[in-house]
Amino acid sequence: MLFDSHAHYNDSRFDTDRDEILSSMRDNNVGLIMNSCSNLGEIPDIIGLCEKYDFIYGSVGVHPHDVEDMTEDDIDALHEYLKYPKIMAVGEIGLDYYYDNSPRNLQRKWFARQIELAIETGMPIVIHDRDAHGDCMDIMRAYKNDITGEFHCYAGSVEMAREILGWGMYIALGGALTFKNSVRPREVAEYVPLDMLLIETDCPYLTPVPHRGKRNSSLYVHYVAEEIARIKGIPVKEVEDMTYNNAKKMFKIK
Ligand code: NI
Repeated sequence: MLFDSHAHYNDSRFDTDRDEILSSMRDNNVGLIMNSCSNLGEIPDIIGLCEKYDFIYGSVGVHPHDVEDMTEDDIDALHEYLKYPKIMAVGEIGLDYYYDNSPRNLQRKWFARQIELAIETGMPIVIHDRDAHGDCMDIMRAYKNDITGEFHCYAGSVEMAREILGWGMYIALGGALTFKNSVRPREVAEYVPLDMLLIETDCPYLTPVPHRGKRNSSLYVHYVAEEIARIKGIPVKEVEDMTYNNAKKMFKIK
């Protein structure tokens, strides 16, 4: 069975067929899904999905795109939502210097603040780091002894992965691994031990080859597992089972 460790089923691109597609997961070997979160407004829908489907879990957090107007009241609200039994992580949180939708100083401030919230509540973190590796790693180093979690849609180097693994954090790979021009994710897939890898779709975004250009869903997460198996020269079943168990362990799902 597959564990899609990062998806956005609350996204409006699933409005026309959300229930239909989620009802087909079990028959297509997808056993568990972690629904990620970008802002507080999404949380009621995410909890709704967790309540409707036993195989969906959620995280809560504010994406760097949405931190501009964030306040301490929002931290308190996240703290409350983290008490819900199927909310298993703080995320996605981090830095995005590609879009720069929020001022960088505020991105750094609220990334650090949400890491502190995760430490305080004993939750793993789900990190979004786009074109901000230097600052992201600087912030993480300050908390490296106290945090657990993962770098979602990992786009850094092997050297950076080595440091992250040294902190006991996981590396998640998604559709980008299957793109023809992607050299780095392949090097990372080869380097990172299987027991520290997660697979994900980030659906509806980042659709893997051969469906690139269409809307993504967890039904395509097997392409990521297959690519990792090819790169490592091991059976796909081994990748499926290990990444499934890794994600369960990291998110503390019984
Ligand atoms: Ni995401």
